[in-house]
Amino acid sequence: MRFQLITALSVAATVSATNFFVSDYSGNVTTFSLTANNGTYALAQTFQTTECAPNPSWLTVDINRGLLFCLNEGLETVNGSLSSFTINRDGSLTHVKNETTISGPVNRVIYGNAAGQRAIALAHYTGSAVSSWLLQGEGKFELNQNLPYTLAQPGPNAARQDAPHEHEAITDPTGQYILVPDLGADLVRVFGWDVTTLVLKTLAPLKAAPGSGPRHAAFWNPYAVTGAGSPTYLYLVSELASTVTGYAVTYLPNGGGLNFTEVYKSSTYGLLNQPEGNAPAEVHVTPDNRFLVISNRNNTSFNLPESDGTVVPSDSLTTFRPLNDGTLAWVQIWPSGGLYPRQFSIDGTGSFVAVSNQYSQNVAILSRDVATGLIGEPIARMSVPGNTTCIMWDEWNA
Ligand SMILES: *[C@@H]1O[C@H](CO)[C@@H](O)[C@H](O)[C@H]1NC(C)=O
Ligand SMILES: *[C@@H]1O[C@H](CO)[C@@H](O)[C@H](O)[C@H]1NC(C)=O
Ligand SMILES: *[C@@H]1O[C@H](CO)[C@@H](O)[C@H](O)[C@H]1NC(C)=O
Ligand SMILES: *[C@@H]1O[C@H](CO)[C@@H](O)[C@H](O)[C@H]1NC(C)=O
Ligand SMILES: *[C@@H]1O[C@H](CO)[C@@H](O)[C@H](O)[C@H]1NC(C)=O
Ligand SMILES: *[C@@H]1O[C@H](CO)[C@@H](O)[C@H](O)[C@H]1NC(C)=O
Ligand SMILES: *[C@@H]1O[C@H](CO)[C@@H](O)[C@H](O)[C@H]1NC(C)=O
Ligand SMILES: *[C@@H]1O[C@H](CO)[C@@H](O)[C@H](O)[C@H]1NC(C)=O
Repeated sequence: MRFQLITALSVAATVSATNFFVSDYSGNVTTFSLTANNGTYALAQTFQTTECAPNPSWLTVDINRGLLFCLNEGLETVNGSLSSFTINRDGSLTHVKNETTISGPVNRVIYGNAAGQRAIALAHYTGSAVSSWLLQGEGKFELNQNLPYTLAQPGPNAARQDAPHEHEAITDPTGQYILVPDLGADLVRVFGWDVTTLVLKTLAPLKAAPGSGPRHAAFWNPYAVTGAGSPTYLYLVSELASTVTGYAVTYLPNGGGLNFTEVYKSSTYGLLNQPEGNAPAEVHVTPDNRFLVISNRNNTSFNLPESDGTVVPSDSLTTFRPLNDGTLAWVQIWPSGGLYPRQFSIDGTGSFVAVSNQYSQNVAILSRDVATGLIGEPIARMSVPGNTTCIMWDEWNA
């Protein structure tokens, strides 16, 4: 479902609603409906399921197909799982399938031929692996491939780099490659695939700084012009070093992979001194392609004032503006509306940032000025039953 929240903000008396889904570690996936009425907002919980229990860690809305995929990380179980649902008109979910996976799936990407055979690749944090599952329509899927990894010796941060820890899976802007940041191995693994079987092929990885702990990454093309011949940058957020590193990306001939040249590096705090222990998590380019937003965890000094005069202890979101040479200009640091913003999703209009504040067990919906890129006051905040892991608008997957 697509709704025009921008229209609701500018045209008096337009009522509109949009659904979003929230996962939390207590075992629930919850649907909320956000209604906008002439500039005021109301939130309602409309559905809840435990069919991705025990520990939902990530959600995927399969746009145009009315499907939702949910990963269960399995914090206390040997294995994790991949579950699928159909999304009903009212935002309720009908469970289709649940399959046991290698332990600790935390992120995913759908790849392949949009009009033909597709698959979903999962990043397994505790299981030190990447897996691939063939999508068979209507929420059905089956195992394609498991790729487990080992480390010859622990990384510089022995506590966190005892083993490879696959943390995310994204595709490049041309849809030819999958990139998987590995927090334990200080790598971003790069894969191509066989176009018929969608079996992943290992290509040369990006080697990140020792001990930096690559976690999440986002691609950016100046002027939104994508293609193997167009300027392409990758922004890698490394959790342990608390850095964002910009790489100029070039395409090697004949599907041979990617070449990365570092062009920028700073703290995820940008110009500000970053606090000790800062642990950045999520990074996204905004829908208008003009800004880059990163979440910072493990600092409580960004109190968010409430309308009733109280303050909410909060971590933060940093906004940067990527420049054509790949460097980043710092724009803003702003409270995330709670503690430990593990993940956030920007809606398709760029007017709202919905933040999963893991330790506050909440989702904060922050307003955002599309013209200036500045994040602003919360329009709504709601609690979920457990530690929040992911929020996805029922529209796209930023
Ligand atoms: C919409 O809100 C504006 C500003 O608060 C107000 O002036 C206007 O009367 C409202 N319109 C309706 C139909 O409620
Ligand atoms: C799901 O949420 C309910 C509250 O809505 C909570 O009581 C329950 O513990 C949560 N988890 C599971 C697995 O039911
Ligand atoms: C899905 O599979 C996982 C892993 O085997 C299991 O722990 C979980 O209970 C299953 N969930 C459902 C809803 O069948
Ligand atoms: C369960 O997890 C273990 C450890 O990650 C793994 O070796 C095993 O293959 C997994 N089982 C399935 C069905 O994926
Ligand atoms: C990658 O780019 C660098 C320049 O930044 C160049 O020196 C190197 O040869 C390139 N590697 C490949 C495999 O093309
Ligand atoms: C958070 O960061 C600020 C700025 O660096 C610092 O002054 C403060 O002590 C930190 N607070 C906590 C709780 O870490
Ligand atoms: C949070 O910061 C403190 C230091 O301020 C550090 O000791 C701790 O390891 C950090 N926690 C995480 C999860 O990064
Ligand atoms: C859940 O959140 C609490 C703080 O509210 C934190 O102490 C705990 O470590 C979190 N656990 C997980 C698994 O996120």
